[in-house]
Amino acid sequence: MELKAPGIARSARPGQFIMVRPPHGSDPLLPRPFSIHDARDGSVSILYRVVGRGTELLSGLGKGQALAVTGPLGRGFPIRAGNYRPALVAGGMGLAPMPFLAKKLAALGRIPKILYGCRTKGELLGPSTLGAVIATDDGSCGRRGLVTGLLEEELCRAGSCRVFACGPWAMLRQVSLLCQKSQVPCQVSLEARMACGLGACQGCAVRGVHGGYLSVCSDGPVFDSRLIDWEQEPPL
Ligand SMILES: Cc1cc2nc3c(=O)[nH]c(=O)nc-3n(C[C@H](O)[C@H](O)[C@H](O)COP(=O)(O)OP(=O)(O)OC[C@H]3O[C@@H](n4cnc5c(N)ncnc54)[C@H](O)[C@@H]3O)c2cc1C
Ligand code: FES
Repeated sequence: MELKAPGIARSARPGQFIMVRPPHGSDPLLPRPFSIHDARDGSVSILYRVVGRGTELLSGLGKGQALAVTGPLGRGFPIRAGNYRPALVAGGMGLAPMPFLAKKLAALGRIPKILYGCRTKGELLGPSTLGAVIATDDGSCGRRGLVTGLLEEELCRAGSCRVFACGPWAMLRQVSLLCQKSQVPCQVSLEARMACGLGACQGCAVRGVHGGYLSVCSDGPVFDSRLIDWEQEPPL
């Protein structure tokens, strides 16, 4: 879905998100967070899957309808120039922020490798998967197995690598573990249920490895993977 929002498009960075409120009064009450899939020419786009009331309402909107949108919010992926191989690891809907990130990395001369995992071919997210190395749990597309298997191979290659990951908690936990073993810098984008999206309600807290809590919406959603206590219950 493409949204005309010149202010957001101008300042958006990969990994940041927007809070979107469908135009139906108080139903649902709270806005919903979505990663910025791309930003250009005064518009931002989001890529979403219908899972409940909010996304169902979004999917029924026609062209030109107005929406309440706040953003860009949160801390995005830190992107640096330098001599490294970026590996983008996405699981399921975690693919959503990757095209924007890949575009910005490419502009710095760092062409990323995108590793994308899904349960089955039917869950692959259309044209956004172009150029990605794919793994499916059932082998119906690409390699049979988990996307973390593809990452293990990538980490064995020579040269310095940096990992940027977005997807379900279990995948991010394993990505973090593999990167720590290989001493590869790793940034993860976390998901949590969000109410305010602004760091005010504490609804999206995750436990940090040094004790204390981090707000996914305002300290993240992107974190250095070493800052997260991966032994806690997943926030979703
Ligand atoms: C920072 C961030 C970025 C996100 N980016 C995207 C994106 O780019 N595309 C996209 O499709 N979704 C994204 N999500 C998830 C999206 O916000 C939820 O899918 C959405 O809020 C569901 O709203 P709903 O009213 O349709 O469903 P609800 O009625 O609120 O919930 C329906 C079902 O979806 C599950 N659910 C609710 N929230 C989430 C969530 N955050 N993650 C996974 N499952 C959830 C619930 O447990 C429930 O089973 C993101 C979430 C966060 C925190
Ligand atoms: S959603 Fe309110 S603090 Fe994060």
